Amino acid sequence: MSEPAPTSTLLDRFGGREGVSRVVEDFYRRVESDPPIRNVYPADLEPGKEKLKLFLEQWLGGEPVYSNAYGHPRLRRRHFPFVIDEQAAELWLKHMRAAMTDCGVREDDIDTVFQRLDTLARHMVNANEDVPREPLGDARLE
Ligand code: HEM
Repeated sequence: MSEPAPTSTLLDRFGGREGVSRVVEDFYRRVESDPPIRNVYPADLEPGKEKLKLFLEQWLGGEPVYSNAYGHPRLRRRHFPFVIDEQAAELWLKHMRAAMTDCGVREDDIDTVFQRLDTLARHMVNANEDVPREPLGDARLE
């Protein structure tokens, strides 16, 4: 039985999980070649890259695969082990916007997600704060 086409979600317009994967790969390539932000990340970029793919897929309207595996995102808390200053937040946003543009995401969809991403990235700044810096690894947070 055929159903009427459902209204597309942001995730559909990003090209589904494949599209999100392309954006995150492109973003990480940019991070890798930009020392001021590369130095914030651990030596092995792969685990974080896979988590970002799962998180974004969920955040854009997909299945909650990230939360099923790791619990509540608690992004600010999860970033405490990494010293993030305003410059790093600006670079994160710049590289993410460039990655989305490069991967063919529509400009109006990019603007929609950046209305939230902009605030979220600035909220992650913790460089001058006395926060717990111990690694959290794959901890499941509630
Ligand atoms: C403000 C600039 C940001 C910097 C410098 C930054 C940096 C990092 C670093 C260093 C990690 C750890 C990677 C690892 O464990 O291998 C990480 C993880 C992560 N970041 Fe960010 N991040 C930023 C903003 C954001 C934003 C805005 C989001 C949300 C869209 C985000 C989503 C994530 C997710 C989901 C993880 C994996 C968390 C986990 O489960 O361990 N980050 N980020």
